Amino acid sequence: MTADAPIGLFDSGVGGLSIMKEVRRLLPGEDLIYVADSQYCPYGEKRPAEIRERSAVITLFLQEQGAKVVVVACNTASVAALEYLRAEFPLPIVGVEPAVKQAALHSKNKKVGILATGVTLAGERYASLVERFGGDLTVINQPCPGLVEKVEAGEIDSPATKALLVQYLQPMQAAGVDVVVLGCTHYPFLKPLVRQLVASGVQVIDTGEPVARQVCRVLTENNLLAPAGRKGREWFYTSGDPASVRPVLEKLWGGTGEGLARLPAPFSRGE
Ligand code: DGL
Repeated sequence: MTADAPIGLFDSGVGGLSIMKEVRRLLPGEDLIYVADSQYCPYGEKRPAEIRERSAVITLFLQEQGAKVVVVACNTASVAALEYLRAEFPLPIVGVEPAVKQAALHSKNKKVGILATGVTLAGERYASLVERFGGDLTVINQPCPGLVEKVEAGEIDSPATKALLVQYLQPMQAAGVDVVVLGCTHYPFLKPLVRQLVASGVQVIDTGEPVARQVCRVLTENNLLAPAGRKGREWFYTSGDPASVRPVLEKLWGGTGEGLARLPAPFSRGE
């Protein structure tokens, strides 16, 4: 493995771009390969075994592209597959998890709300996170069916998306939380909308930046940081239809870098 190899990232769809933005900000010299598993999105409504299988297939693809580290830019896939991927692949693998620890640090009244997928909230990884860091917190967990689909459609400020958020934020607002955690990588694209809907003193936090710092740490420890002065490039793949992913990618990322292609067989089912 060499320092000029790319970083691989994946998510069920375009959500992981919120993590990739922070990685790009911190590591401008790195080449990045992003896979959106759009054909299988949303993961939040799949069985953990299926999410694990898709995560392994995509990690294999990224390994074949020469990735020096793989970022599971998805809370749901991290819950379902992170341990498995670490056991199966001889690569550093970085996962994401809802920012419970940061919420505990930021909350003054010790009441926090967590927006995430049902799979994330039901997972053992999440239970242990709350046990370790949420001891003195009242935690309001809120699964958010339908929200991922809105972001996948590029609807980050539509009335329908707003109506879903009003519904999902209501129980945590009623409980008086002073921190709202965006526990799914799709949701940071809805941050402006969430901010509009919560009281001004409520903090809205996600994990993009700490994950990017972790990626930087892993590369530094393994002597794999890209040579200084280099300008990083981006490649995008989807298991879905590139024509329908392209406009959303352009909206959320601001372009398609070196290109957007369909994930080749056998990594996706084809047309
Ligand atoms: N972006 C995802 C997460 O962080 C997956 C959402 C989904 O596909 O349901 O959980």
